[in-house]
Amino acid sequence: MENLKIAVIPGDGIGPEVITEGIKVLEKAAELDGRIQFEFTQFPWGCEYYLEHGRMMDEDGIDRLRDFDAIFLGAVGYPGVPDHISLWDLLLRIRKEFDQYVNIRPIQLLNGAPCPLKGGNKEKIDMLFIRENSEGEYSGAGDWLFKGKPEEVVLQTGVFSRKGTERIIRYAFETAKEAGKTVTSISKANALNYSMVFWDEVFEEVSKDYPEIQTYSYLVDAAAMHMITDPERFEVVVTSNLFGDILTDVGAALAGGMGLAAGANINPERKYPSMFEPVHGSAPDIAGKGIANPLATVWSASQMFDFFGYSDIGEKLLQAIEILLEEKEVLTQDLGGIATTSEVGDRVAQILKGLF
Ligand code: NAI
Ligand code: MG
Repeated sequence: MENLKIAVIPGDGIGPEVITEGIKVLEKAAELDGRIQFEFTQFPWGCEYYLEHGRMMDEDGIDRLRDFDAIFLGAVGYPGVPDHISLWDLLLRIRKEFDQYVNIRPIQLLNGAPCPLKGGNKEKIDMLFIRENSEGEYSGAGDWLFKGKPEEVVLQTGVFSRKGTERIIRYAFETAKEAGKTVTSISKANALNYSMVFWDEVFEEVSKDYPEIQTYSYLVDAAAMHMITDPERFEVVVTSNLFGDILTDVGAALAGGMGLAAGANINPERKYPSMFEPVHGSAPDIAGKGIANPLATVWSASQMFDFFGYSDIGEKLLQAIEILLEEKEVLTQDLGGIATTSEVGDRVAQILKGLF
């Protein structure tokens, strides 16, 4: 039996509510399968912790996380703590310190999930976004000069290193190779005359190592349009930090909404733990009511199984979500139902019993 140690950071708002269901499903699947045993350790970090201790995580927080096999995170951010603090001091810090330079966001419209596009279905909307997660527009480089003066100037600099650009593009090609899919690169070389010209060049170079893979390259504005008018053209998609952030929210809308959007922050070398989390935030508007949709968290649990080499279990979790969506009996409000967060988690666990 493989023992897997998971650091759990439930975080703020609906974070703890959805994470409880995520753990429920991870444990149920492991128990039914019999090959894995999870050991969960909870960390009480987040905005509440910040208000009490003046920081988002313990001083030695990164060191305490280092030896875990993975991190399972709910959401961070809450009114009263500026978003740039909660984001930079916890989430982005973990992503950077643990070199989680790949952000994987599956955008697949499962059967039974709502879609705003006429005729949208699972075959048409099936993309895998590989978003650069360590540099680019979110590197935090820049300056704020002459604050408050008439000559005030701010600079926010995108950082695209050869190493960082090449490794994310190569990861996308490797993923596509394994899955027998096409690769689409999304950039903006007409306006961003250094960073994106460079990106396109590296994409071109790396593609030469994969002559069997069909490639496409779009400008980000055109890509946003094509995602709505012709989503079928996208399979494996590789793009920068900022563009990936925005486009995957478009993707979330196409594939059933924030309640179904999952993401994984991967350190492919496995030198450090990778982190699995729903894409949504702490949703203060519905927190504490027990009505948050836990399916995005269950989906990221499925990504965790894939990462550990148990993609057969990951697949069963997705099947369970799909069965639940199709039967339409136990759904939260965002999907038109009246069920509570824990009722949805219970139902997923129950469906899983029939799948092993
Ligand atoms: P949000 O994702 O928390 O909420 C946006 C809308 O979607 C809200 O109406 C919310 O009720 C709904 N929603 C989100 N998740 C849902 C779920 N599981 N079930 C049902 N409805 C759901 O984004 P918002 O409101 O912009 O941000 C709130 C806080 O979360 C902010 O402090 C923000 O910084 C933080 N945040 C944190 C993220 C993270 O931890 N990865 C990501 C995005 C935002
Ligand atoms: Mg986002």
